[in-house]
Parts: sequence; structure tokens; C-alpha cells
Amino acid sequence: MKIAVTGASGLLGSAVCREVLARGHKLIAYANRGWEEPKGRFRASPLPLDEFDPVIRELFDQWPDALIHCAAISSPDTVAQDPKFARLINVESARRLAEVSAHLGARHVHISTDMVFDGMSSPYRSTDPTNPLSEYGRQKLDAEKQVLQSAEQNVVVLRITLLNGNSPRGNRSPHERILSALANGQTPELFTDEYRQTSSAENVAQLIVELIERPNLNGLFHWAGKEEVSRYELGRRILQRFGFSEERLKPTTLEQSMERVGARPARLTFELAPLISKVKTVPATIDEQLEEMHLPLELYDWYRKHVDYPGCYHPRL
Ligand SMILES: NC(=O)c1ccc[n+]([C@@H]2O[C@H](COP(=O)([O-])OP(=O)(O)OC[C@H]3O[C@@H](n4cnc5c(N)ncnc54)[C@H](OP(=O)(O)O)[C@@H]3O)[C@@H](O)[C@H]2O)c1
Repeated sequence: MKIAVTGASGLLGSAVCREVLARGHKLIAYANRGWEEPKGRFRASPLPLDEFDPVIRELFDQWPDALIHCAAISSPDTVAQDPKFARLINVESARRLAEVSAHLGARHVHISTDMVFDGMSSPYRSTDPTNPLSEYGRQKLDAEKQVLQSAEQNVVVLRITLLNGNSPRGNRSPHERILSALANGQTPELFTDEYRQTSSAENVAQLIVELIERPNLNGLFHWAGKEEVSRYELGRRILQRFGFSEERLKPTTLEQSMERVGARPARLTFELAPLISKVKTVPATIDEQLEEMHLPLELYDWYRKHVDYPGCYHPRL
């Protein structure tokens, strides 16, 4: 198949592009500013989604068999800073891309989030009532509804949870943020009472390409990892993996920090049925997700000098 991927320079989109190629499909990759994958496996052409006429022209020129929409303003803080622009990307362009796919007869996968829930009634099924607590969550929920209305068939909306993995810029996933904070001399504060059923970008990418190859699976689905973990416990295990003492983290609670960080869902976990019984992809355990984590290249010099337990040292990849 000829598969177009937006957000190809992002944490998830880059993993999806690698999986598309690994499974022998033809890839057309797009990012906002354009980007070359460091190992030369693919190039992402610039395709800003805030101006839609060039997007329509490009997709009609390419006429892909499937479109996987991974681009988004994906940080809740960035959305809160400029909600109007974020809505243009997260909702409006998401709807229009789904309309283009419907017109081209292309299979469409749209990525959404567990942040459409308030975290009070986990584990969530895809049919459960939503109640986003942030503007990011509200935008992602609006996008889901509009995408499902725009393309009635041959469309998947996939809600996913917090992603581990290796982002192209080394700054997006939990382990990259924690290690960068250490390198900057900070003590990351992590919540012991905020739980997520984390997955990895690699695992979600496998599922997404499987869904592209399985046109009988359509509609709204949930996907996550195998286990739930608190933010603090995840941080502790990340430090253990890379050979740092857990003393470098400060455990704190969401309850104590509510005034500073605002309302956040405390526990977001998913019921994976019915999807889990219909696909070959298996949810990843925390150990498997830890195993996939690399140290961001730009942190190596600092890492070599500052690792607490050299026995756990990770060589440069
Ligand atoms: N990461 C998570 O933990 C997580 C959890 C749940 C759901 N999700 C969802 O998963 C999807 C992928 O997230 P991610 O973490 O991979 O995101 P990410 O790493 O922040 O990457 C975002 C991608 O979107 C592109 N983009 C941003 N603004 C754009 C614009 N105006 N026009 C065109 N492209 C634009 C970026 O291109 P440039 O690099 O060129 O700017 C980049 O390729 C999103 O829908 C997100 O909401 C993510």
C-alpha cells in the first residue's frame, strides 16, 4: 500500500514511518517543517496544516491508499498558550484530512488520547462518557467526533495513553524529559498518585499499521500498555535502567500540587477489549518499554561523567 503519514518527525509518527517501511509498504511522510530521519531511512516533506489548500493539492497528487494522521499540537501546555491556533491544527485540519481520505477512498487512522476522560472512573471503555479536564482534551474529543462524522467508513479513531519511546529530537518522551532535567541540574518532581497505563511508540506503531492492513476493523478503539504505573514509579524504573540513584527524583503528590499544576486526571487506564482479541499486536509491558529506551545522543557526554552506577552504563548506540 501507499501510506501517507503526518507528524512524521514526532514521537509516534516517526515510529509509524519505520513500521510502514518495515512491513514493505510505500511511505509518504510529512511534518510541519520537513525533516530527514538521521539514519536516512526516510525524509518527511514540509506540509504545514494551518493552510489547507496546499495540503489538499498534495494529497490529491499523491492519492495514497491510507492516511495515518499523527500530527498535532500534542502538548497540553502549548495548546493552553494558543488555543485558537491549536484548534485549527487539532480539530479543523483533523476533520479536513478525514474528509480528504473519504474523497480519495483512502483508509484513515486518526490518533486521539486518554485525556478525553477525567480519570475518575478507570478503566475506561471506548463507549464510556467523556469529560476532558483540559483544552487539549476538549480539542482531541471534538476532533474525534468530527473525524468519525466526516468519514463514515474505512476510518479508525485510536485513543492512546502516555507514550514511552525515543523521539527524533530526544525531548518528548518521559525518559528523555527526566534525563534532560537531570543533565540541567534539576530534581524532577514526579507524582506518586498519578497513574497511567503507558505504552510505547513502537508498540502503538505496530498496532496502527496492523489496523491499516485490517480494513474490517473500523470505529473508535482504545490501546495502551499491559500495566498501569505511577509517574513516580515510572521515573524510578527509568533511573534504575540508566544507572542513576532514585534519590535524584523528588516524589510528590498531585493532591498537594493541584494549585500549581491545575486539574489533571489522576488515574487514566483503558479497557482494551474488544480490540485486544482482534489484533496480533500484543500490549507492551513496562519492562519491554524500558528495554526500548535509548539515551538521547546529545546527553552522552554528560551521562558518561555523571552516571551513578557505572555497572548499568549504556554504550552509545
Ligand atoms: N506522546 C504522547 O504521550 C501521546 C499520548 C496520547 C496521545 N498522543 C497523540 O498522539 C499523536 C502524536 O503525538 P506525538 O507525541 O508523536 O507528537 P509530537 O512528538 O509532538 O509530534 C507532533 C508532530 O506534529 C507535527 N506538527 C505540529 N504542528 C504542525 C502543524 N501546524 N502542521 C503540520 N504538522 C505539525 C510536528 O511537526 P514538526 O516536528 O515539523 O513541528 C510533529 O511531526 C497526537 O495526536 C497526540 O495528541 C500522544
